[in-house]
Amino acid sequence: MSRSASTRRSFLRHAAATTAALSLAPLARLRAQAAVAAPQGATPAAAPLERRRFGRTDMEVALLGFGGAEIGYEQAAPDVVAKLLNGALDSGLNVIDTAECYLESETLIGAAVGQRRKEFFLFTKCGHFVEGGGSADWSKAALLRSIERSLKRLKTETVDLVQLHSCSLEELKKGECIEALEAAKQQGKTRYIGYSGDSAAARYAVECGRFDSLQTSINLCDQECIELTLPLAAEKGMGVIAKRPIANAVWRHDAAPSNGYHLEYWKRLQELRYDFAFGEARKREDADGPAGIAMRFTAMQPGVDVLIVGTTKPERWKQNAELLRAGALRKEQAEAIRARWKAVAKADWTGQT
Ligand SMILES: NC(=O)c1ccc[n+]([C@@H]2O[C@H](COP(=O)([O-])OP(=O)(O)OC[C@H]3O[C@@H](n4cnc5c(N)ncnc54)[C@H](OP(=O)(O)O)[C@@H]3O)[C@@H](O)[C@H]2O)c1
Repeated sequence: MSRSASTRRSFLRHAAATTAALSLAPLARLRAQAAVAAPQGATPAAAPLERRRFGRTDMEVALLGFGGAEIGYEQAAPDVVAKLLNGALDSGLNVIDTAECYLESETLIGAAVGQRRKEFFLFTKCGHFVEGGGSADWSKAALLRSIERSLKRLKTETVDLVQLHSCSLEELKKGECIEALEAAKQQGKTRYIGYSGDSAAARYAVECGRFDSLQTSINLCDQECIELTLPLAAEKGMGVIAKRPIANAVWRHDAAPSNGYHLEYWKRLQELRYDFAFGEARKREDADGPAGIAMRFTAMQPGVDVLIVGTTKPERWKQNAELLRAGALRKEQAEAIRARWKAVAKADWTGQT
């Protein structure tokens, strides 16, 4: 038996045992029976990372994807992004997620790997690109313009998934923004449509039955979705993308981080006090160190298909893929993380966008 087959089996066994033990809703993922659409021309890696069927779609996604926010906000250099993405594609990456508003992220991705488009599934988002200023526009016309702009920047005629970028519950209920995505799908600009966001809006997006996928925050410091949306998303056959899947690695900071985006998770971690995230234990870089435990915890939540870890470091994707190859956490460890969350989480520890 190959190493990957053995790991896959044990990962599933652990995940199933953990699911039962945690009394979560049954893992009722309705897997599509259609043939798997692997991107053409992909180079198989020596020890391929586990792949999961993305909900009811025809995509089979490598468990570790790439999150495109960091390269945009950290203003990574084009040559660094090219090295990072080409190296990861050569090693088994097949999902790249970005958004219209991560500054130059889409342009960097288009320039770096636009010529390898058939080798990966490309996901983007819309809602925050507003011509002439403003922070968001959820009208049909603005969303369709945003999608056109994304296609140009990404150097492609169609993406695999366009997601509404964390619009409010009120906007979702109005419905115009969903109609815009449905129109884009009909026009062949995107093959699938999704919602990216958290809490009540994410729950509505799952319930309404009009989206192929959900992207939501899932990590050690953000577990609301584990009961609120994941079981229903799995039951409905939606693909699930775990965003912020390594909790922004906030254990790295001795004191409160100056980056406000990381602050809430850092504060939560001070109260959660997982033993592996403090003292000497937090320095471990293997699969039982904080990064490995964080990603393995996220990956084993029922319904999760792909973790889109953000990074600006060319070597990171391979390192993280290696950590994920260790498979699911031990049942007792996963239970302890869930129990600690349930004991400590406050009512306002909701999903962070
Ligand atoms: N509303 C939305 O739709 C929404 C919101 C947030 C995020 N997202 C998506 O989700 C993606 C991921 O979110 P994110 O980047 O905020 O969070 P994340 O993936 O949880 O954290 C990324 C951070 O973790 C660090 N890191 C990665 N691997 C590490 C390791 N092995 N050891 C130590 N540190 C490690 C990275 O630093 P290095 O640079 O040092 O690797 C980076 O600073 C985004 O890129 C974006 O695509 C979507």
